[in-house]
Amino acid sequence: MTERSQTSTASAAGKVILCGEHAVVYGRPAIAAPVQQVRATARVTAGEPGSGCVLHALDLDRVIRLAQAPEDDPLALILRLTLAELGLPQEPDWEITLHSQIPMASGLGSGAAVSTALVRALFRHAGRRPDPATVSRLVFRVEELHHGTPSGIDNTVIAYERPVWFVRGQPPLIFTPARPFTLAIADSGIPSPTRETVGRVRRAWQAEPARYEALFDEIGEVVVAARQALEQGEIAELGRLFRRNQALLRELGVSSEPLERLVAAGEVAGALGAKLSGGGWGGNIIALVEPETTEAVRQALLQAGARQVIVTRYQPSADPQEPTANG
Ligand code: MEV
Repeated sequence: MTERSQTSTASAAGKVILCGEHAVVYGRPAIAAPVQQVRATARVTAGEPGSGCVLHALDLDRVIRLAQAPEDDPLALILRLTLAELGLPQEPDWEITLHSQIPMASGLGSGAAVSTALVRALFRHAGRRPDPATVSRLVFRVEELHHGTPSGIDNTVIAYERPVWFVRGQPPLIFTPARPFTLAIADSGIPSPTRETVGRVRRAWQAEPARYEALFDEIGEVVVAARQALEQGEIAELGRLFRRNQALLRELGVSSEPLERLVAAGEVAGALGAKLSGGGWGGNIIALVEPETTEAVRQALLQAGARQVIVTRYQPSADPQEPTANG
């Protein structure tokens, strides 16, 4: 364990789903990538002897005393799971602060990022480094509490902090695109309740299994083609696939008028393709842009009601950040 005076800090990035959301819950593949511009950060320091483990969740204005927190509190759960994983004999006197720049319920993985930052910071304070598979496994337990039947893609992409090809129940495949590409990520400012959108799709699938299985199959085909486009550096083709994926998400019933407005505005302003990303109804859309169209698309998205637009570029080479070191 670290010295009493030492502070251990760790962080985790947000994420976007490039394509395949919802169908991924039903075993089809999906592709997701980290968003480094927005991060959740956790800091651990020694508390007073006998104070126990206390978490200050600054954005939620909450103080959680682990010894008294209910079983189903997501933040308490990730602390308990991590302390158990570390094999600590009893609750340590640790003072933890948590802060996140990732808007909640926006489809950018704020819940998984917050949990990941906590796991990394606790491991670091115990003088250990967790491997991404361990982080992902622990965070998945909390995702189940948040979302009911998560596929596991959010905890995976955030724990590995690399673009991933993901199929439920299988180890993720980390890959890098053959050519750089840029996304403009626009926040509708409307919450995206993943549990509800996933529940809506589940009820629709139960009512009409053949129709929804066919839609999931079609989304799966789009994702396979998107991987090929990324590996071959065919960025315009990736844009076409974004548009096709958005049409299928609309058919699934998870788009909405404000999201459609953002998607259309991005495409009219020159994006190669745009789609919602994550659970839908609200949250973020992603628009695939080229250097010469980025600013026009960004402005168009803001004029169409986006609360914030993040522009992020993915490079062929692995990004320099070490997921396990980063913290
Ligand atoms: C949420 O980021 C993605 C969904 O596919 C749900 C999941 O995969 O658990 C909507």
